[in-house]
Amino acid sequence: MAANRRLGVLISGRGSNLQALIAAIDSGQLDATIAVVISNREDAGGLERSRAAGIESIIMSHRNFGSRDDYDCALARALHARDVGLVCLAGFMRLVGAGLIDAFPNRILNIHPSLLPAFPGLDAQKQAIEHGVKVSGVTVHLVTAELDGGPIVVQRAVPVMPGDTAESLAARILEEEHRAYPEAIKVILDGRWRLEGRRFILARSPISAST
Ligand code: GRF
Repeated sequence: MAANRRLGVLISGRGSNLQALIAAIDSGQLDATIAVVISNREDAGGLERSRAAGIESIIMSHRNFGSRDDYDCALARALHARDVGLVCLAGFMRLVGAGLIDAFPNRILNIHPSLLPAFPGLDAQKQAIEHGVKVSGVTVHLVTAELDGGPIVVQRAVPVMPGDTAESLAARILEEEHRAYPEAIKVILDGRWRLEGRRFILARSPISAST
């Protein structure tokens, strides 16, 4: 069966990663369609980007739902109604729970601005500066119930320079994020991978497997 290449992108803020996905699709680098963008905040700057690209853009505020699970189930219904095959969290500032995760098993990606498992949670770049690491980076991972804890699909290292602030490091990491997210989505959609426990394993190509 052909992979469902319809993406649902969930945002809360400026949406630069969303913009990178739009650009990767427009340039032909990523064979996918963004079926819908959902923001939990009506003031998310990313909504202007998605509307400008002609993508259906919905505001679903978590404040209108009685519980986290009610909200997650409503997200899942909205995504399924648009035949979404892969959910991409792109600066979506909400913990997602079983109501969404179980509706899209191993079909939810998140991007995080550190080399996980270092510095999960908020302010990862500030955590990296304060810890004094010399290298940080970006991780794209499958979403599980554990915060920033699912199987790692793509990681890219980014140096921490002397004199870096959390802001300057964040800007350098962000450039790498914009390359890593389309790449990770392509890997997932191409389907030549499997999980062994929490390890994400790329299948060997038929050529390399026979040599
Ligand atoms: C990025 O740094 C991403 O890694 C993190 O939230 C930020 C979102 O930025 N999860 P943007 O909204 O995509 O510009």
